[in-house]
Amino acid sequence: MRHLLSAGDLDVVSACLILDTAAQLASVTDRTVKKFPTLRGRTVVNLFFEDSTRTRISFEIAAKRLSADVINFAAKGSSVSKGESLKDTALTLEAMGADAVVIRHGSSGAPHRLATAGWIQGSVVNAGDGTHEHPTQALLDAFTIRHHLRDGMGDLAGVRVAIVGDILHSRVARSNVLLLRTLGAHVTVVAPPTLLPYGVSQWPCAVSYDLDEVLPHVDAVMMLRVQSERMHAAYFPSVNEYSRRYGLDIRRMGLLPPHAIVLHPGPMNRGMEISADVADGERAVMVEQVANGVSIRMAVLYLLLGGITDDGKKEI
Ligand code: NCD
Repeated sequence: MRHLLSAGDLDVVSACLILDTAAQLASVTDRTVKKFPTLRGRTVVNLFFEDSTRTRISFEIAAKRLSADVINFAAKGSSVSKGESLKDTALTLEAMGADAVVIRHGSSGAPHRLATAGWIQGSVVNAGDGTHEHPTQALLDAFTIRHHLRDGMGDLAGVRVAIVGDILHSRVARSNVLLLRTLGAHVTVVAPPTLLPYGVSQWPCAVSYDLDEVLPHVDAVMMLRVQSERMHAAYFPSVNEYSRRYGLDIRRMGLLPPHAIVLHPGPMNRGMEISADVADGERAVMVEQVANGVSIRMAVLYLLLGGITDDGKKEI
């Protein structure tokens, strides 16, 4: 595989290869010298048209730990603010010799366009496009779930996961549903009807409007941020009403099986989709998700740029 655009492009073998490679690379993070020479002399460009804390920094650290040269390009403060198109930005990066472009964009499909239009030769990694997909987030979530519930090995056959909240605007939800299904997990998306996308019944998951009913039957619950910046209408009566029906608080934690873990991709709206005591509680794994994100992105860059197969092709 040359690009990573969608979690749906990964089959169980390639997904497990990424997870296993990430597990191997994770051990580097425990060393004093955290570097591999693998991508020395290669250039990775982080092309971020949307705000990001975790994902951008995570890709930057991942590329640096593999000894790549990293260019951080934020649209704010660049010629994009002067109206430069994605095409002209891409041609500029190509002229400068980018081996991989990690792109986050507000428009669904932008990474796909970048990969297929022929503007650049290098690998394209989707770091979140509009409300569409965020495959490395799904991979780091799968890695975290596998670590806790499967001793860090194999696939996720039979693991039950609930994804709760603003499914409509969430690229994390779509990528997770696709990847978790590929890995053999059973997913239920839980949201008010107004925050479910058109066509969700075609997704490979169950759908519920009732969080209390779902919680006793899952091994992991993933809470999603209510993405107010993408909302141009009223999707629920009030914040209080939303929290009362769909927020994860201490009472609801009591409904989960004792082994179940709580994930959130961040950034969190504390007090809205998740209460502060749950977010800071023992079963919340958000800090691990962030740490695992670095290992996953190292694995993806390593396999796309460093992993050359016998016939000379780059392969995931
Ligand atoms: C998510 C994103 O940007 O899609 N965050 C992330 O990458 N960690 C989810 C969100 O913004 O709520």
